[in-house]
Amino acid sequence: MGMQIPFKKLMLLHIIFIACLRLSAAELQRFEHRLKHDGSLSFLVVGDWGRRGSYNQSLVAYQMGLIGEKLEIDFVISTGDNFYEDGLTGEEDPAFLDSFTSIYTAPSLQKQWYNVLGNHDYRGDVEAQLSPVLTRKDSRWLCSRSFILDAEIAEFVFVDTTPFVDEYFEDPGDSTYDWRGVYRRKEYLSDLLKDVDGALKNSKAKWKIVVGHHTIKSAGHHGVTKELLLRLLPILEENNVDMYVNGHDHCLQHISSNGIEFLTSGGGSKAWRGDRNWWCPEELKLYYDGQGFMSVKMTRSEAVVLFYDVHGNILHKWSIPKEPLKAA
Ligand SMILES: *[C@@H]1O[C@H](CO)[C@@H](O)[C@H](O)[C@H]1NC(C)=O
Repeated sequence: MGMQIPFKKLMLLHIIFIACLRLSAAELQRFEHRLKHDGSLSFLVVGDWGRRGSYNQSLVAYQMGLIGEKLEIDFVISTGDNFYEDGLTGEEDPAFLDSFTSIYTAPSLQKQWYNVLGNHDYRGDVEAQLSPVLTRKDSRWLCSRSFILDAEIAEFVFVDTTPFVDEYFEDPGDSTYDWRGVYRRKEYLSDLLKDVDGALKNSKAKWKIVVGHHTIKSAGHHGVTKELLLRLLPILEENNVDMYVNGHDHCLQHISSNGIEFLTSGGGSKAWRGDRNWWCPEELKLYYDGQGFMSVKMTRSEAVVLFYDVHGNILHKWSIPKEPLKAA
């Protein structure tokens, strides 16, 4: 009899412990992508694009089609600001077809697109971009606020960065933002950071990549996003993330800092010529103030990042070796 109470207590503690583990485990939606037979993974990254083909969006799309075919890409990542100026007005907004379906028409781009939201998307009907109605219109479309993509050798964590930015709440100017789903901002952000940290800690993948719309490190027009520098960057550093991939600044950019590659691919349409700030030359590997996109091809032992202009010329190439000893 004397043994029963502690045992019951122990069981109860055990159950509580398991329940807590469950609650604190990543609650982000998870998608899986199987690797090609050769064990490699290739994808394109484009950001800040939806302008019905104008500002060279169509030229960038055409070159993406050619490079996509050459690399036999597995999928496309969009770093957000999918539809200008103010996202979509609703599920039936023709901008979806005019700026996405009718623009990225190449056979090689008929793959899954993994999209995050940018600040301009938040100025429209956010729920429309997240809606399965769009996926029924174009099966490539997958947009979620934050999610995980498990591609065997690489784990991607997509982060909804817009709600981090104080300015949009405190000084929105003439813009209105659709904050449905982000009502309790403080909790939303702290839960999200916990989920991102948990996902990265649980990941057994060789490569860890975080994708968001806003910059962390950038010499571009918007520059550093101080809220992300303060709250997201420490999580990336603690979890040995290899790359942070973003848009927001309408340029192509590579900053290599403290073992993390900060890759900006925000050249999907309108670019901001000449609009740049100083950045430590030792860290700044590329700054290109025109339009274009990025490709990544990775295996277990190496990742090769390339940036292209509107003519498909290679602007910058960077290889990242993955030493077996450093692997998690
Ligand atoms: C389109 O790209 C060409 C070639 O780089 C450039 O000269 C032109 O200014 C671009 N057009 C726009 C509208 O950005």
